[in-house]
Amino acid sequence: MNQPQPVLAVSSLVKRFGSFTAVDDVSFELMPGTSLGIVGESGSGKTTTARILAGLERPTSGTVTLEGRAVGGRSRRDRLWQAGRLQMIFQDPYGSFDPRRTIAQSIAEPLRLHAPGPAERHRARVAELLDQVGLSTRAGEALPRDLSGGQRQRAAIARALGIAPRVLVLDEAVAALDVSIQAQILTLLDELRRETGISYVFVSHDLAVVRYITDTAVVMRHGRIVERGGTEQILRSPQHPYTRLLLDSIPSPDWDLERVARDRRALDAR
Ligand SMILES: Nc1ncnc2c1ncn2[C@@H]1O[C@H](COP(=O)(O)OP(=O)(O)OP(=O)(O)O)[C@@H](O)[C@H]1O
Ligand SMILES: [Mg+2]
Repeated sequence: MNQPQPVLAVSSLVKRFGSFTAVDDVSFELMPGTSLGIVGESGSGKTTTARILAGLERPTSGTVTLEGRAVGGRSRRDRLWQAGRLQMIFQDPYGSFDPRRTIAQSIAEPLRLHAPGPAERHRARVAELLDQVGLSTRAGEALPRDLSGGQRQRAAIARALGIAPRVLVLDEAVAALDVSIQAQILTLLDELRRETGISYVFVSHDLAVVRYITDTAVVMRHGRIVERGGTEQILRSPQHPYTRLLLDSIPSPDWDLERVARDRRALDAR
């Protein structure tokens, strides 16, 4: 009977920039409460795909369906509906915060839009959100430039969560943070997923991070998905030569740089 429906479904997505095809026939589904990784080297089309999901870029063809409804409508109502269900977190959230507003003011702003109500209730909700992502009241009173990169990323997550989206698209969201702060943000995301049932599309070139935070993954190369499946499965026994190369490219005690370079040339020549 009640089969669970994907919260997000992407079908035959294509994005061309002029004659260049950045995203080439990409399809995947995201089930509620799960986390999907998009991995692949620089230029493989990960960000372009993420931006299409968030409605920041229009696909040349193909469809994105959110909770069963096709997205991409340009009306204010359509955009508000979409933003209420899907939010995006970028590598460096600095540019998405108003430099003159405190973090608390920035977190409160989308609340006014998505959950109209008295200022008092919004203040309480902001305090709750700050607490949820492990930021102090003092951090809430600070300006964006006064926070560390890790704190700013927490603030960006708090702001997105205030809208109570069903899907969070994170594009290299921890790539700029040092490893211990990465670990804090990743465990935070993990907790939030367990608490709220939110789903993630997690874009990253870091396979260790993807292994930790995702259940399934797709591997992109030149705009196409070349491998897909359970993350653990893919990382343990990669089927595609490109996935193997990605894995071999991770520095390890027996890292063979020359072999990686050689395999890379062989793959590029195919
Ligand atoms: N607005 C644009 N106009 C022209 N080409 C673009 C545009 N946006 C992206 N591209 C090209 O599309 C390709 C895919 O870019 P994209 O940013 O999606 O890659 P990526 O996988 O996110 O890479 P990275 O890991 O470096 O972030 C690249 O070759 C890029 O130059
Ligand atoms: Mg990118």
